Amino acid sequence: MKHFLRFSDLDVGEVLHLFRRTRTLKERFKNYVAYQPLVDRMLAMVFEKSSTRTRVSFEAGIYQLGGSSIVLNMGETQLGRGEPIEDVARVITRMVDLVMIRTYDQSLLERFAAHSRVPVINGLTNEYHPCQILADAYTFVENRGSLEGKVVAWVGDANNMLYTWLEAAPLLGFRLHVATPEGYGLDHVRVGAAGRDHFEVFSTPAQAVAGAHLVTTDVWTSMGFEAETQARLEAFKGFCVDRAMMARAAPDALFMHCLPAHRGEEVAADVLEGPQSVVWEEAENRMHVQKALMEYLLLGKVDT
Ligand code: CP
Ligand code: NVA
Repeated sequence: MKHFLRFSDLDVGEVLHLFRRTRTLKERFKNYVAYQPLVDRMLAMVFEKSSTRTRVSFEAGIYQLGGSSIVLNMGETQLGRGEPIEDVARVITRMVDLVMIRTYDQSLLERFAAHSRVPVINGLTNEYHPCQILADAYTFVENRGSLEGKVVAWVGDANNMLYTWLEAAPLLGFRLHVATPEGYGLDHVRVGAAGRDHFEVFSTPAQAVAGAHLVTTDVWTSMGFEAETQARLEAFKGFCVDRAMMARAAPDALFMHCLPAHRGEEVAADVLEGPQSVVWEEAENRMHVQKALMEYLLLGKVDT
């Protein structure tokens, strides 16, 4: 049994398999060709934080594959009244085939997975957002070909997205150029030795984006950090991805943002809506990569 709790749970062969399957499943979806290998399979989605894309992409995705889903908002379950996560894991994974969890601490997800009878997927934690980076990397590959040897520039907070890009870099062979405001940088203890050859920290966003093939950013205040919003608005001044910043990247550079976006904060409206932005495809691809992921976790490397 395999879980997807962080990007590094996959090896490169698995990621490339998922990309191939994503292409196939997306093509079928676009041509209205039904493909339902997960009939009678049930996905439970547990949310402790808000979501639009994650919920819709998983719910639509499992349905298209022939299965069904149950949404559990944590506060409305017995978890909200103190039932241990280990007990919940042992109970619900006797009834469903797959579980996706969006929560605060990665450790909660890990505790659930340790007591689960079925594969568990990380739908975002404070630490990682692996489904999103799967979609982002796929979106790059779909538009520009392999990420091998490419430069991905990250401008903004050292958050769950950045730490997941860091895990993807050594696997997919790209370099990450990072610019974060003072006080919001990478935690070098967390980064450890992993991926060290694959990223470089720059002191300004302009330096980080120079020549990059992909420029990407995210909200300045992630879910769970709302109390810091005002301080962050101050600290992140100068970290808005605008046209001048995009002009420093490679001429055919793409712009990505996992969404939701705050126009005028981390990204200028004309970049988000501009010709280099692929954010809507990126969001759509969440559904296609997660269909490939669910198929893989439940059925293995099928090739039909
Ligand atoms: N990008 C992303 O995960 O969006 P949601 O928070 O809407 O699920
Ligand atoms: N970093 C953001 C991503 C939202 C999809 C957050 O964690 O809130």
